[in-house]
Amino acid sequence: CGIIARIGHGDAAETLLSGLENLEYRGYDSAGIAVQNGSGVKVHKCSGEVSDLKSTLSGRPNGNMGIGHTRWSTHGPPTDENAHPHTDTVGDVAVVHNGVIDNYDELRTELKAKGHEFESDTDTEVIPHLIDEYRETTGDTELAVRRAVETLEGSYAIAAIVDGEEAVYAARKGSPLVLGLDDEEWFLASDVPAFLDHTDEVIYLEDGDLVVLEPDSYRISDLEGTPVERAVDTVDWDPEDAGKGEYDHYMLKEINSQPTALSNTIEGRIEDGEVAFEELPAGSFADVETVQFVACGTSYHAAMYSGQLLRAAGIPTEVLRASEYEATSGPVDENTLVVAVTQSGETADTLDAVRTATARGARSLAVTNVVGSTAAREADDAIYIRAGPEVGVAATKTYSSQAVTLALLTQRLAADVPTATPADDRDAMLETLADLPEHVETVLETTTAEQLAEETLDSTSYFFIGSRLGHSVALEGALKFKEITYEHAEGFASGELKHGPLALVTDETPVIAVLTGSGVEKTKTNAIEANSRGAPIIAVGPDDNPLADVADAKLSVPETHPVWAGLLANVQLQLLSYHAADLLERPIDKPRNLAKSVTVE
Ligand code: G6P
Repeated sequence: CGIIARIGHGDAAETLLSGLENLEYRGYDSAGIAVQNGSGVKVHKCSGEVSDLKSTLSGRPNGNMGIGHTRWSTHGPPTDENAHPHTDTVGDVAVVHNGVIDNYDELRTELKAKGHEFESDTDTEVIPHLIDEYRETTGDTELAVRRAVETLEGSYAIAAIVDGEEAVYAARKGSPLVLGLDDEEWFLASDVPAFLDHTDEVIYLEDGDLVVLEPDSYRISDLEGTPVERAVDTVDWDPEDAGKGEYDHYMLKEINSQPTALSNTIEGRIEDGEVAFEELPAGSFADVETVQFVACGTSYHAAMYSGQLLRAAGIPTEVLRASEYEATSGPVDENTLVVAVTQSGETADTLDAVRTATARGARSLAVTNVVGSTAAREADDAIYIRAGPEVGVAATKTYSSQAVTLALLTQRLAADVPTATPADDRDAMLETLADLPEHVETVLETTTAEQLAEETLDSTSYFFIGSRLGHSVALEGALKFKEITYEHAEGFASGELKHGPLALVTDETPVIAVLTGSGVEKTKTNAIEANSRGAPIIAVGPDDNPLADVADAKLSVPETHPVWAGLLANVQLQLLSYHAADLLERPIDKPRNLAKSVTVE
């Protein structure tokens, strides 16, 4: 879910609604706002997207302060009643919430016994009732909010407004909340893009912070009420990055922005032929003996990619699905580096895996796109992938920037870890990286993915195969395809095709073969096997790939170092998915049932 709050002079509603649109990547099954307009707190909410909410508003509700929410359902289906903001029984206190309240059931029972009436199935609704209850007993809203959050178990970022008060109250524990400071107005939001059009001055709030915003001042205190100082940061994201620009979809914009994103990722990170992370000087990893990557979804595929590079350098490496960490992790100790790969830095499964690993003594490193995110703050160290804000739910540019950052990280580890052996072709790999943005540009300019998407649109299933580095590209290609087209797609290690999936192969199941890197011969053999059972073959790789004479169609990538070639193949697969989904008229930026940032386990 995403939350926003705004207080200042002039109307809040417009700003809240446009801010919510920029947060829809966090959820979009219901939306709502509440504003203060001199005659009480007015709540407007409904199931559906922010655009649906807008169409239900006749004229803009007035009021200089307000809160807003865009929901991804956890407790209770996406109905009008379950949409946020929620209020207390009389509607004096309105609250938006991101997170999960674990003890809501017992709180609800206690509050009901005291006469509070509930309207929704959500865990959130206990919060306004609690605030109301404590206002009665303390006569002080700030204290009441403090008491209320002390009573909550679970995770929350909340914002509240109260009838007749010129203030927004907010608190966080375990869910992100950023304060935005403009000359004329203050903002609170789950993430910076919500208010980036207005200001780039931010304060990343910490767990346990309670904030009171008034039209001309703000104050932050801890749960005991002691004032706390928080540093003001300047965000270096361009407001342009947060909008769709000339493109029909954020996803297409983000695919096309990969040359720029990658240039930013790479900038300053190779100095005198060595990988340089300003955050982590040479020698920082000298004590590391083993590495574990933990990640979900697309980030997992980026981790898989670099896991192979680390193993090749002789560093024992595991690449683990964060949600299965408990069951799959080998032993860890202080010489284990746990690398959390997470675009958002907020994925609950990933955070949980890192917490488990660090509790067992491991050292942690976050590789993330979001400065100030929970992963960045909780891990011992953080490296930023610098891809700029990504709004489309299907990750594209962040995969490329992650894979490059991680490939560089592996080279740093290989240099620092005494037992490691840097790859023979390391220098060539680092030298050719500078050309990667240009090669992506070439792919974008010359791709035939749209035509191919049209030609294969009637297929029953799409199989993506690849070997070694190409295996992770195949998995990512299939994930992207199913996420946004809703068509059945699966990715396999090339050699696995014959161990089961081949039973599904027909002339209606194209096999998309990733032919980059060192596993191409295996992919060729297995693709030919599928082809002899009738499957059309799409070869994704350089023009002189080993399937060039056999393939029914191709998606070309420029010649480059094998480590980077896979990323070019991936750009072609992103485009194939995009165009197929577009032809099928899918809601590309907001695929059904998915959210970009999944903050529940
Ligand atoms: C969600 C998104 C995926 C994403 C995954 C991990 O499931 O829909 O696109 O890859 O979370 O997100 P993260 O922010 O941790 O990279």
